[in-house]
Amino acid sequence: MTDTAPSPPTSEPLAPYPAPGQVGAILLTEAQIQERVRELGDELARKYRDTTPLFIAVMKGSVIFAADLMRAFKAPVEFDVMVVSSYGDALETTGVVKIVKDLDTPAAGRHVVLVEDIVDTGLTMQYLLDHFSKQGAASVSVCSLLVREGSEAAGLNVEHIGFEIPHDFVIGYGLDAAQIYRNLPYIGVFTGDL
Ligand code: IMP
Repeated sequence: MTDTAPSPPTSEPLAPYPAPGQVGAILLTEAQIQERVRELGDELARKYRDTTPLFIAVMKGSVIFAADLMRAFKAPVEFDVMVVSSYGDALETTGVVKIVKDLDTPAAGRHVVLVEDIVDTGLTMQYLLDHFSKQGAASVSVCSLLVREGSEAAGLNVEHIGFEIPHDFVIGYGLDAAQIYRNLPYIGVFTGDL
């Protein structure tokens, strides 16, 4: 957040974004992500082709992934969003999952695909899997762009995974640090301060 007011139009070069020192290694380039998302869309379309599944984007981190994944899913699909929070603005999970915004569409009887940005400790996914089972979904599967290597997520059944990544805190392609950097087209290691 800033108190600076929007500026009048300018043709001057903009300040570099991200600012120097904010992003370390680029773990996944835009091209790598786009190719994998196309593959995941195809995999899901083959699996759910006759069912009109309900894709649930787990906000806010999956906003960009979900938009791309749906367009790569070449079959009928319904879409809804859910806002959950377990991190606040910190780099460590608070350990408590909170539903900030629930679905508009009843999940009972539906084939639900939970679309996640990253499964880290697996806490959010476990909570949502239980939540939708209780609601009587016909099936629930998870499609996560990223899964943390060697995390407890190994014990969870994440059926559709884009990439495994190391323990660094990452930003971009929907993932944030204190709500910033979601709009980077690649995924990189956050090296700034919060
Ligand atoms: P989990 O409940 O620990 O699996 O955490 C899942 C949520 O934590 C994700 O949906 C993200 O919003 C957030 N998260 C976990 N790791 C990162 C990261 O490296 N960068 C940004 N957000 C993260």
